[in-house]
Amino acid sequence: MQNELGTPEYTQSMVVLTGAGISAESGVPTYRGTEGLWRNHCPQDLATPGAFSRDPDLVWDFYKWRRELVTSCEPNLAHLTLVEMEKQFENFFIITQNVDGLHQRAGSKNVLELHGSLWKIKCTQCGDRWQDFQIPLPAGNPICPSCGSLARPDVVWFGEPLERDILEQAHALSASADWMLVVGTSASIQPANILPLIAREVGARIIEINLEPTPLSAEASLTLKGPAGEVLPSWWDRIRHG
Ligand code: OAD
Ligand code: ZN
Repeated sequence: MQNELGTPEYTQSMVVLTGAGISAESGVPTYRGTEGLWRNHCPQDLATPGAFSRDPDLVWDFYKWRRELVTSCEPNLAHLTLVEMEKQFENFFIITQNVDGLHQRAGSKNVLELHGSLWKIKCTQCGDRWQDFQIPLPAGNPICPSCGSLARPDVVWFGEPLERDILEQAHALSASADWMLVVGTSASIQPANILPLIAREVGARIIEINLEPTPLSAEASLTLKGPAGEVLPSWWDRIRHG
């Protein structure tokens, strides 16, 4: 399989699309598994604009809890392998659906956050946004330093569009990819799950790493089944050392 597929050249463009599964071995819950966040919490109550206008305290409590949880987690071998890969490839980009910031904490540089970040906050009125790594956040809900209005987590909620320029960048990267590595996503949420199809259309080879098959598996040139923290480093080891 590996031979038919060929081997990535370091001058080629390698785009990596990640989802919650890449952080699972770090201890960050995924969204849809048996222990997934959306099994135990109703997204309508916590991750929609309506939920925030009804009960900002509840929504902020949820996001404060998630920030604290992620702070107690460390990047795993899958994140660290992507850091090593970035050093080799001339064109290497991570497009992540994750909001945990673990790619950046591991040391990855070119990271496009499709769904925002737990570590960014934005004003509900004037649109100002800023980074905030304080743990815990001060009591009460964050307030905009520019205009004094209520601020919200800078994440994309259900029913909200993605940031236009970020989506455009993601499309452009996918449309110029030679390889796309898809790690730990159920490939069930648009528009993120369209990106590998865009790459496929321009002839990119798609490699999927997941514990189980996904709707994308039929499109992939190669599916590597297993935990990302094991499968990704060993795949990369084979590429590097032949
Ligand atoms: P999901 O929770 O939908 O899917 C996680 C995927 O990771 C599943 O396909 C699992 O089989 C796989 N997986 C779990 N553990 C793994 C491991 N150790 N190694 C490899 N694979 C593993 O998460 P996402 O696909 O990221 O959006 O979800 C997409 C979006 O839906 C999220 O960004 C979030 C959510 O609602 C927003 O919040 C806007
Ligand atoms: Zn403001």
